[in-house]
Amino acid sequence: MKRIIQQLILTTSLLIVCTVNAQNVIKNDKAQEEKIRSLISQMSLQEKVSLLHANSKFYVPGNKRLGIPELALSDGPHGVRAEINRNNWAYAGWTNDSSTCFPPGTALAATWNPKLAYQRGIVLGEEARFRKKDILLGPGINIIRSPLCGRNFEYMSEDPFLISRMSVAYIKALQSKDVAASVKHWLANNQEEHRDSIDVSMSERALREIYLPGFKASITEGGAYTVMAAYNKFRGDWCSENEYLNREILRKELGFKGVLMTDWSAAHTTVKAALTGLDLEMGTDKNDYNEWYFANPLIKAVEEGKVPMAVVDEKVANVLRVMMNTKMFDEANREKGKMNTKEHQQAAYNDAAEAAVLLQNKGHLLPLNFNKIKSIAVIGDNATRKHCGGGLSSEIKTLYEITPLAAIQKKFGAAVKINFAQGYEKRSSFKEGNNSGQASSDKVDWKLIDEAVKVAKESEVVIIFGGLNHDFDTESSDKQNMDLPYGQDILIQEVAKANPNTVVVIIAGSPVKLSGIDHRVPAILWSWFGGMEAGNAVADLLSGKINPSGKLPFTLPVSLDQSPAHALGNFPGRNLRVNYEEDILVGYRWFDTKKIVPEFPFGFGLSYTDFTISNFVTNKTNYNKGETIVAKCTVKNIGSRYGAEVVQLYASDPVCSVLRPEKELKAFEKVFLQPGETKTIELTIKVADLAFYDEAKKAWNVEPGDFILQLGNSSRNILKTVKISVQ
Ligand code: BGC
Repeated sequence: MKRIIQQLILTTSLLIVCTVNAQNVIKNDKAQEEKIRSLISQMSLQEKVSLLHANSKFYVPGNKRLGIPELALSDGPHGVRAEINRNNWAYAGWTNDSSTCFPPGTALAATWNPKLAYQRGIVLGEEARFRKKDILLGPGINIIRSPLCGRNFEYMSEDPFLISRMSVAYIKALQSKDVAASVKHWLANNQEEHRDSIDVSMSERALREIYLPGFKASITEGGAYTVMAAYNKFRGDWCSENEYLNREILRKELGFKGVLMTDWSAAHTTVKAALTGLDLEMGTDKNDYNEWYFANPLIKAVEEGKVPMAVVDEKVANVLRVMMNTKMFDEANREKGKMNTKEHQQAAYNDAAEAAVLLQNKGHLLPLNFNKIKSIAVIGDNATRKHCGGGLSSEIKTLYEITPLAAIQKKFGAAVKINFAQGYEKRSSFKEGNNSGQASSDKVDWKLIDEAVKVAKESEVVIIFGGLNHDFDTESSDKQNMDLPYGQDILIQEVAKANPNTVVVIIAGSPVKLSGIDHRVPAILWSWFGGMEAGNAVADLLSGKINPSGKLPFTLPVSLDQSPAHALGNFPGRNLRVNYEEDILVGYRWFDTKKIVPEFPFGFGLSYTDFTISNFVTNKTNYNKGETIVAKCTVKNIGSRYGAEVVQLYASDPVCSVLRPEKELKAFEKVFLQPGETKTIELTIKVADLAFYDEAKKAWNVEPGDFILQLGNSSRNILKTVKISVQ
């Protein structure tokens, strides 16, 4: 009951905050713009240029004479990164920079709860301000195109609509605390392999329908103050100097008035980058900051007439506008911040608790009744491994991190005998900063397996904590395959033979192959990298104190070759070029259209209770193009436990002049219900959002005719459809 009340308080207060900040786009009113112009008019060219490049790893100098403060940036998406030395990458050794560590991006998306993204944004904003940061380098919202991308764990989903809902909420909340978001990586940074040299090409339709919407929503709805240009090239030009992306789309179409910065060391030229709209150069690998592209070379380019002064002024104005929007000139009224409060830690717990996805639960093995069980075996390296400190730029020095074994011991150790065995060893050639970790099932350690089998035999129930770690889910390299590393398939097989009451908990941030284990064990719970509260959340999920309510934010293929980029052989590209031939058929759009049955579909996740979804109706059956479809349905908890169901509304256009995916997510809502409780919910879709991007017309197009609305609780469990017509 206490938890329900907490949830209600949280939901109500967040709703209020959400409404208040509904128009949280970057301000550029007359008074502010005049102030900006006045400041610029007092600056020399040198002073202007000094605001357009860093003078250390994460700081841009201010201007004492004009009262312009220094700009402080920090990683990263799921926690404020510890302080790094100004002039090298070593940590500064501060004692007040242990921050709250949230579960990374895929876990956040798996909650399907934008209110949690909002809550996360608030915490990150407060902690960033406590550390006196002005820009937080997140959220990372690149599309999960391949199961192998090393940074999938930081990103959110294969679906642009789900990404947009989470990203907008995160950004609004973060910026309400006077910290600028930096939505990254603009654009098509969907692999780590050759990220700094690969040239990505895709159709205009794929760009508009898949890769752009998350950024568009983040900027036009979320009001993101800054954007980080990706390392890669897009259609032949570096993203940091791409006329089409940066001038045409970002500035003209999306009306972006904030700062476009490089990723760290992603600047390549002075004149081209300046003219195509880049504002801020970060991370360039030259010790003398004056030699950076946007330092002395920019001054020279202006003097030689290659870059007009107006272009420099535009950039300085963008920087000053972000400073004003984050109240950098108004410190007295600025958010003061707090660090690692109980509320912050609770927010991290809530995310981990709501993110876990129950994939399989044969014979209702879960939840485990720890009041009755006398002994359990806890097996696996991930039972004791801490993950917050890994992954490279998103790594976090957390105040604490509770491992699964520690939490199980603390919560149940007094009554239940806990038999631990390591099961497998984290062995790879991986070195921090240079990942060459290889998943290989031939690294079977029979000594560890024998120990595991022994404890499995001695225990009533077994929980294996397996999956990946940040040798695999990491920035700067991709996974080599989708296998469970370190011989885990064999470990699980042998343990399950010894004790059939085996639960597998997968700790990972990107798809792994489960087809080797799904038939061997009755229960599989995917609990992601769970942040600082990982162990507490997973223990509460296993015991049933928390009912799993997460849904997969990506498709889990049976094998890699099912996945579109791999089926077509265009990952990670050839000769430093990659062409996204699968086009708009990314993730479930591919699986459903091509009728390929995955291991577990997008949007899938079980619960310890059961729900019915019924009475699906729309307000009308015939619509005009400017109208909004209002759909209603009733959700009932017909089981005996409190829980949440995610109602998902997909749309399809069965007769169209171009190929349309079998279905596309258009609306969703997470509904929390007491046993026996019923709620009627409303989902809305703008008719305009049923459009495809028409390359011939260079515009969005809703062709008149019938559309099918498909309502379900996963992309592959459609419970009811309604046909509507558009004139
Ligand atoms: C990453 C960015 C990160 C930056 C600063 C780069 O390597 O791609 O996401 O924000 O480093 O650490």
